[in-house]
Amino acid sequence: MIFTVNKTIGILVMVLGIVMVSSSFAGHKMHDADLELDVDNAEVVKQGKYWFARRCAFCHGGGGIGGKGPCLTCGKFAYSANTNVDIMTTISIGIPLNRGGSMGAFGTTMPAEAIIAVVTFMRSEEARRIKSGEIEDPYAHKEEAMVFPE
Ligand code: HEC
Repeated sequence: MIFTVNKTIGILVMVLGIVMVSSSFAGHKMHDADLELDVDNAEVVKQGKYWFARRCAFCHGGGGIGGKGPCLTCGKFAYSANTNVDIMTTISIGIPLNRGGSMGAFGTTMPAEAIIAVVTFMRSEEARRIKSGEIEDPYAHKEEAMVFPE
């Protein structure tokens, strides 16, 4: 009986801890060393949407759902490791032919803030699509792995 109560309290403390840690990081990042993006900042997302429509939608589809180029709001990045830093690097330097790519570099024609805003827009769209059930949650397996031992 006491053991069960202790275990329940233990789980509660762990869950509370996770909630507290995650709420202190409002932005989006894939791991501690990744660049945190202000996905809740409507102004940055709006700027990113503007640049995306001008420079990216032609190949990646409106809202980044994919077209000639791959989907950028599905949470899967085959060419770039799925981190904000790597995705920004890909956008800046492009994907050269010797890496099997054909996308040009944007680092010379877009300011750094615009590239950050574009990825912030992509991540906010990704979150919205996962939440609305439009796409399957690509990160779901991570939660499944959180099994508490008996
Ligand atoms: C002329 C077409 C074209 C334009 C314009 C374009 N892309 Fe791409 N992009 C591609 C293609 C095609 C690929 C797939 C790899 C390849 O063939 O180069 C790609 C790949 C990518 C990837 C890698 C995805 C992965 O799986 O890791 C990212 C990120 C990306 N594009 C972002 C952007 C952004 C952001 C913009 C606008 C600033 C943009 N692209 C504009 C054609 C384009």
